[in-house]
Amino acid sequence: MSAPKKLFVKTYGCQMNVYDSERMAAAMASDDYLKVASAEEADLIVLNTCHIREKAAEKVYSELGRMKPLKAANPDLKIAVAGCVAQAEGDEIRRRQPMVDLVVGPQAYHRLPDMVAGRAAPVDTDMPEEDKFDHLPADTRRRRSPTAFLTVQEGCDKFCAFCVVPYTRGAEVSRPVAKVLAEARDLVSRGAREITLLGQNVNAYHGEGADGRDWSLARLIRALAEIEGLWRIRYTTSHPNDMDDDLIAAHGDVPALMPYLHLPVQAGSDRVLKAMNRKHTAESYIRLIERIRMARPDLALSGDFITGFPGETEEDFAATLDLVREVEYAQAYSFKYSPRPGTPAATDNQVPEDEKADRLARLQALLSAQQAAFNVAQVGKTLPVLIEKPGRNPGQMVGRSPYLQPVHLDCAADLAGQIVDARIEAAVANSLSARMV
Ligand code: SAH
Ligand code: SF4
Ligand code: F3S
Repeated sequence: MSAPKKLFVKTYGCQMNVYDSERMAAAMASDDYLKVASAEEADLIVLNTCHIREKAAEKVYSELGRMKPLKAANPDLKIAVAGCVAQAEGDEIRRRQPMVDLVVGPQAYHRLPDMVAGRAAPVDTDMPEEDKFDHLPADTRRRRSPTAFLTVQEGCDKFCAFCVVPYTRGAEVSRPVAKVLAEARDLVSRGAREITLLGQNVNAYHGEGADGRDWSLARLIRALAEIEGLWRIRYTTSHPNDMDDDLIAAHGDVPALMPYLHLPVQAGSDRVLKAMNRKHTAESYIRLIERIRMARPDLALSGDFITGFPGETEEDFAATLDLVREVEYAQAYSFKYSPRPGTPAATDNQVPEDEKADRLARLQALLSAQQAAFNVAQVGKTLPVLIEKPGRNPGQMVGRSPYLQPVHLDCAADLAGQIVDARIEAAVANSLSARMV
């Protein structure tokens, strides 16, 4: 038997890419590729890329530049670019960086083993009819982490004016209920205790059920909550317009559904929201949050924001700050608007770079203060913490609170995968420190 070949995967972008990278590694494992932790020793390097903002794609090209010496040292080394940059740029990547051997889009990566073996064309950005999930081998190894991602929905039909996702991931598709449940049971049997359901628009989920009818995300969550050993369920990312009544109710009556919701609003000015093609207003978003908090009063809310969208005035931006003050986020992501080629907003009236940056800094100051306040408010409480992995200091483990905060505490390593009650003693930076009770 020949020695296994070595695979190095580097992942950029969202959790869906993290999930896809795992699946690509599993696909290559059945072709005898072993995952390694450094690019230097690899026979195959996969860069799973993100195209959401300018810097994301530029990072990939500079990473490729740094990999040149590896290619010189090992002429057999193959480099593959996967993910959303691969989808958006296709063969252009190989023109710009000829040392790239393979280019594979997010809907075609089940063909990676054939591409690597030379049995398929080196560039594949198809969005084939066939379900890639049906062509990926099962991963049978025990999981190292008690938390897992499970993609249930892909693509997006919303076409927000700033966003590349509808182009890179294609139209919205939901996986059938039976396949999701089977994968969830398999993850739990291999040690998963928490599953995060993934989709670019996960709450638009409408997978086919055994009864032939489409199931909503709420119905799927209720079925998943029946799986013995699956203690925690999360889902991300959601669009405000797809939060239906049953999903809101599930936050109140499904104990396994964690009190954390990532619900991007992007901006607080109705004029900007309209230009973004978001199809909701600041007011409708705030009313929605009120309803969800009625079902689950301790809900921790997270969001995404863009500053300096084309045409955004200082007054528009003030409305974003007002919305943030009204909602109070436990955590959030915020970005400067980045014009993406081929999206409608890219050619509109751009806001100067320094204004985008200045607004971003002011927004982030407010969001950080809210995050700190949310964390400090946990001090003195006892929270159930799912222990995940060793922490930085010896004897320390780190886990997550129901609100997704990292929690550091002293406990034995064999408690990984267990939920322990922990008394929160301090809020430090973006995490909590606690003591077992
Ligand atoms: N499907 C999710 C988010 C997808 S992208 C949703 O609808 O919320 C993740 C985040 O990146 C977006 O919520 C948005 O805040 C940000 N983003 C997307 N395109 C962007 C762009 N062109 N410039 C800056 N930020 C962007
Ligand atoms: Fe992008 Fe909008 Fe779709 Fe989210 S809903 S993926 S921001 S187009
Ligand atoms: Fe990036 Fe593609 Fe995800 S553009 S955010 S990797 S869907």
